[in-house]
Amino acid sequence: MRILGIETSCDETSVAVVEDGRHILANHIASQVRLHARFGGVVPEVASRAHIQRLVPMIGACLDECGMTLADVDAIAATQGPGLVGALLVGMETAKTLAFAARKPLIPVHHVAAHLYSPFLEFSGAASRIVMLGGEEGDTDGAGACPHTGTTGGDGSWPPLENPYVGLAVSGGHTSLYLVHAPGCVELLGETADDAAGEAFDKVAKLLGLGYPGGPLVEQTARGGDPKRFGLPRPMLAGTSLAFSFSGLKTAVLKIVRDTGAGNVAADAGMLRDLCASFQEAVVETLLRKARLALKQTGARHLAVVGGVACNGRLREAVARYVPRTRVVFPAPVLCTDNAAMVAGLAFHLASAHPGCDLALNARADLPLQP
Ligand code: KG4
Ligand code: ZN
Repeated sequence: MRILGIETSCDETSVAVVEDGRHILANHIASQVRLHARFGGVVPEVASRAHIQRLVPMIGACLDECGMTLADVDAIAATQGPGLVGALLVGMETAKTLAFAARKPLIPVHHVAAHLYSPFLEFSGAASRIVMLGGEEGDTDGAGACPHTGTTGGDGSWPPLENPYVGLAVSGGHTSLYLVHAPGCVELLGETADDAAGEAFDKVAKLLGLGYPGGPLVEQTARGGDPKRFGLPRPMLAGTSLAFSFSGLKTAVLKIVRDTGAGNVAADAGMLRDLCASFQEAVVETLLRKARLALKQTGARHLAVVGGVACNGRLREAVARYVPRTRVVFPAPVLCTDNAAMVAGLAFHLASAHPGCDLALNARADLPLQP
């Protein structure tokens, strides 16, 4: 079964074709990160506009790469929510239109449930095509720049995770722990009370004058730094709660910057490096120790780490220390950030519940997970 997936929940326009919930035949991503960089964050109206401009040509290009037309597709899937409602609407309405016109089933997908499915995807010879939109450089085609290292952490067998598994979803919008009983059947165990981990990376990067998006820039700056130089808090690690909180950690960094003087921090490369390394270590340790607690509380044996922050090299490395003797699986970096392959992949498992094209389906910014 071949499913065309569409993802437009935030600032990536993405279209993919995935076969049988596993094999990626094509995965195209247009990143708007440069369009939003000068605002220091995603501007919803700019995001919706860019989705409208890019989505339809991308669907054509993605099908072309597979040597397919719409008639060859078995179903159409789109992210229904959660996300920016204007951005979601572009994807949902386009999917509805295509499904209605081509008489195909329409499968709505929950964005976080799709992230939690991302470790199950495989590149079968196909490469992801990434285009960086706009900015001063103009559009650049980053095809080939994308690492196709595949899922890491498993032993190469498929499926890479055994149900139920614990899922740690860490992105700019989410920091949550889940128990995944089956594809799309997801139970929330705990979530952040304030900032998401990616948001904390972005805010700290802004504070330090590093730019946007902050995660990769903080990671880069932290290289070779001393993670113990600044004793930053590991929030909410005492007790048995699986909730997170990152706003205090961000404030602790702000206090150091204020006490030292922003200009002095920026001028001292060693301090900047150590501060980034200390902050990164505090986030990584907090995330992984909570994930370990979730494994203990649920009795699950496998852990998946998904979402944009799962690209972080230190997070991947630190698993051996904080979550030993457990299978921990990370998707390939290109599948950690928003992509349509995870939408088309999960949709395969939801197809029997959506045999038709329900035109009453609507995008929902606050779409809840299915019980
Ligand atoms: O999943 P994603 O692409 O979009 C959301 O749904 O939010 O995640 C984006 C987030 C941003 O906050 C970005 O700073 C963070 O993921 N991120 C990273 C890294 N790469 C991306 N955070 C830490 N280290 C990285 N290497
Ligand atoms: Zn996401």
